[in-house]
Amino acid sequence: MPFKKEETIRHVDELPAYSSTISKIMLIANNPKASAGDLIQVISLDPLMTTKVLGLINSAYFNLGEKVVSLKRVVIMLGFNTIKNVAIGLAVVSSVKMRNDYRWFSGDQFWEHCLGVGIGAKIIAAHAGVSAQDQDEYFIAGLLHDVGKAVLIQHNPDEHARISAADFEPGSVKTELEEEEFGIDHAELGGLVAKKWDLPTSLLEPIRLHHSLAPTGNPTVDRMVSAVHVANYVCNDREIGIKNRCGTSGHKLRDALNCLSIGENDVAPLFTGLEKKVEDARDFLKN
Ligand SMILES: [Fe+2]
Ligand SMILES: [Fe+2]
Repeated sequence: MPFKKEETIRHVDELPAYSSTISKIMLIANNPKASAGDLIQVISLDPLMTTKVLGLINSAYFNLGEKVVSLKRVVIMLGFNTIKNVAIGLAVVSSVKMRNDYRWFSGDQFWEHCLGVGIGAKIIAAHAGVSAQDQDEYFIAGLLHDVGKAVLIQHNPDEHARISAADFEPGSVKTELEEEEFGIDHAELGGLVAKKWDLPTSLLEPIRLHHSLAPTGNPTVDRMVSAVHVANYVCNDREIGIKNRCGTSGHKLRDALNCLSIGENDVAPLFTGLEKKVEDARDFLKN
């Protein structure tokens, strides 16, 4: 018997609240008047958060060429947006549990897929001439794109595994099957998670729309949504993280590529070295 939408949505309400540090970071992130100084103050009052942020900033992903030990220096080198995005990424990844007994993939494989989509989205942003600071926003949007799937699987692993079979044996569109089974698909549910945690629109919309590609009326956000869609397609196709899929649906791929002005033949060269870059970003998943 399929679940009702309200039953599924209740799982979003049951998600843990952020720690007070993260709630304060979100307030700053959503306040256009906030400064880098406000952000540093909040992070530096929390030793664990400070360690995590500095650890990531010094990881291969940022490739800074010098060891940075002060948050002030980080802001000078990378800017407010990057620190904000790093903090949001850390917050969500550490708050979402992905179970390890799911039939089709492990928690590590799930997060590796997400990491691949983040890196892929960032590659597209760089190709499109997006500024270095804003490229990290694409990365975080990709990293978080399937957050709704983690919530669905957490509560209903067997039901989700049954409908996921379509992904592993050629078949129908999974978001439609999720909607039939749970009253809502993982993308829309992810949008509700993003709302609960006050993620900025630039992250909420790619999470919510990465399969439907419904236009938002904001061309910048539409490009982020399309970048996540394309990166998701590429990671599924190249089996980064999640393996043995047969049903990689490409029916919206052309729309997404058109939105990004990328030709179909340019996709493969663009993602040369993606696997190595995913390796470099692995520190994002250490908690
Ligand atoms: Fe998805
Ligand atoms: Fe995905």
